[in-house]
Amino acid sequence: MTSNHQHVSIWACPVCQAPLKLFGQQAKETSSENGWCCKNNHRFDIAKEGYTNLLLAHQKSSSNPGDTKAMITSRRAFLSAGHYQPLAEKLTNLLSQYLDNNASVLDSGCGEGYYLQQLHQQRSDLHLFGIDISRDAVKLASRQLREGGFAVASSFNLPVLTSSVDALFRVFSPGDPLEVTRVLNPSGILLVVSPGPRHLFALKELIYTKAQEHDLPDRQENFVLLDEQQVSYQLEIGDKESVKQLLAMTPFYWKGDRAAKAKLDELDRLSTEVEFIMRVYRPINPLQS
Ligand SMILES: C[S@@+](CC[C@H](N)C(=O)[O-])C[C@H]1O[C@@H](n2cnc3c(N)ncnc32)[C@H](O)[C@@H]1O
Ligand SMILES: [Zn+2]
Repeated sequence: MTSNHQHVSIWACPVCQAPLKLFGQQAKETSSENGWCCKNNHRFDIAKEGYTNLLLAHQKSSSNPGDTKAMITSRRAFLSAGHYQPLAEKLTNLLSQYLDNNASVLDSGCGEGYYLQQLHQQRSDLHLFGIDISRDAVKLASRQLREGGFAVASSFNLPVLTSSVDALFRVFSPGDPLEVTRVLNPSGILLVVSPGPRHLFALKELIYTKAQEHDLPDRQENFVLLDEQQVSYQLEIGDKESVKQLLAMTPFYWKGDRAAKAKLDELDRLSTEVEFIMRVYRPINPLQS
C-alpha cells in the first residue's frame, strides 16, 4: 500500500455512520491492534488478509451470506484463466474515461476481486475499494489486491461515507439505487454490467428443453444513461475443469434438475455465446435523492 493510498478512506461506521479512522499500526500489518474506529468508539478489527468486517449481525440473512467458498474458488479459477478478459478490458477502458487521477472506485459485490485487480493493473493511481456480503469472497479479494480496501458489507446498506466515491460499479451483483446515489459524489458515475439476452445460451439449451433468452436488463430509474456498450463473443472452453468451474458459478446450474446436472457434469468441452451489457449512469439529483 503506497502512502498515497493510506490516507484515503471511504469507510463509515456501520453503527453510527461517522467516519472510520485507522487505529493501531498501519492497516494490513499483522498486529491484532489494527482496526478502524469512529468518534463514538465503535471498533472493527482488520483481519490478517487486510479486510474488515463491517456487516452487523442484524444485517445478515444467514450466518454465512452470499456466495459460498466453492462458488468463489471456482470463479477465481475461471476468471484467472482469462475467459472473461474481453469484458474486463472493456470495463477498465470505459471506467477510465470517466476517472481523473487518484479517483476513488468502489466495486459493489466484488466477489473474489477480479475486476478490481484488472483495473489496478491499468490504473495504479486509483484508490480501489470492494465490498461483498460473502466473507470468503472478500478474504480472497483482499489477499490478492493488497493496495485495495475491502470490507464485508451489504450493497443495500453500504458502510461508505456520503459523496465519497467517484465511480461505483457492479458486475452481476445486486444493488440499491438510493445507496448508490448517496455514496457517489455529485459528478460520480455508476457502471452496471448485466447479462445480455444470449448470455450462456448454449449452456441453457443443455439444461432446459426450451431455453429462454434473458430479458434485457431494466434501465436504472432516477439516473441519466451516459453510455451503453455490449460485449459479446463465442467462448470456447476445451477442458472439463473449466467447464465445471463455469457451472459452479452459474445460478441455473444449481437450480436445474438432477438429470440435467448429471448431463452437465459429463461435459468436457463447451462452446457458448457470452453477452454482457454495460451501462454507465449519473444520478439525476445526486444529493437530494
Ligand atoms: C454473480 S457474483 C459476481 C461477483 C463479481 N462481481 C464477479 O463478477 O466476479 C455475485 C456476488 O454478489 C454478492 N452479493 C450477493 N448479495 C449481496 C449483497 N446484498 N451485498 C453485497 N454483495 C452481495 C455475492 O456474494 C457474490 O460475490
Ligand atoms: Zn460509530
